[in-house]
Amino acid sequence: MKVRLAPSILAADAACLLDCAEASAAGGASMLHIDVMDGHFVPNLSFGPHVVTALRRRTALPLVVHLMVEQPWTLLVAFLSAGAHSVNIHVETGTSERLRPLLERIHASGARAAVTVKPRTPLAAVEPYLAIVDMVLLMTVEPGYGGQAFLPGSLDRITELRALLDDAGREIDLEIDGGVTLQNAADCLRAGANILVAGSAVFGAPDITAAAAAFVRLFQDM
Ligand code: DX5
Ligand code: ZN
Repeated sequence: MKVRLAPSILAADAACLLDCAEASAAGGASMLHIDVMDGHFVPNLSFGPHVVTALRRRTALPLVVHLMVEQPWTLLVAFLSAGAHSVNIHVETGTSERLRPLLERIHASGARAAVTVKPRTPLAAVEPYLAIVDMVLLMTVEPGYGGQAFLPGSLDRITELRALLDDAGREIDLEIDGGVTLQNAADCLRAGANILVAGSAVFGAPDITAAAAAFVRLFQDM
């Protein structure tokens, strides 16, 4: 599967989100990861739909919305209308009866649908969605904050999830999010991830373009 870099703007300077995004694109980033936090599902607050609308007007990068909100159904349409290219919904926010229609709603609007699992959620929780989703996002840190260390045990979870996705008989992207660095990226790809979210490792670097390009070079060397 195609390997891609998705920089997370949570780590970018909020005063220049667009310039930071474009700098990462110049280094070869393929999409932009937008962490949406409501202060309930996670303690932190971050971006609303208006940020997606503003970026959508000014960048060609696909905007991937990671909804870390307690009630994704209240915000979904706003993010789709804002121009999200993909929307990730946490499996912990509801039953499959409640969440499956949301994934169908995402597809109906022409966007890509994904489910997300927290580090302590059993991977079997994604099974009810494997016939629908285009991507599964595996958290490799507890959601809520950027700059945390990659959790031990995550590589085994990537391997286990890749096997589940392969068994589904459809092509499903495996994205990982949290603590991804140039040092652990190769192991994550070998374990079966194919989209790497990286916040601090890209936007925390002194040269954003060079940091993104270093990931892309590593992808090409594998
Ligand atoms: C955590 C977010 C991540 C985070 C990644 O809740 O979902 O996307 O910003 O940042 P780093 O790469 O710094 O761990
Ligand atoms: Zn995220």
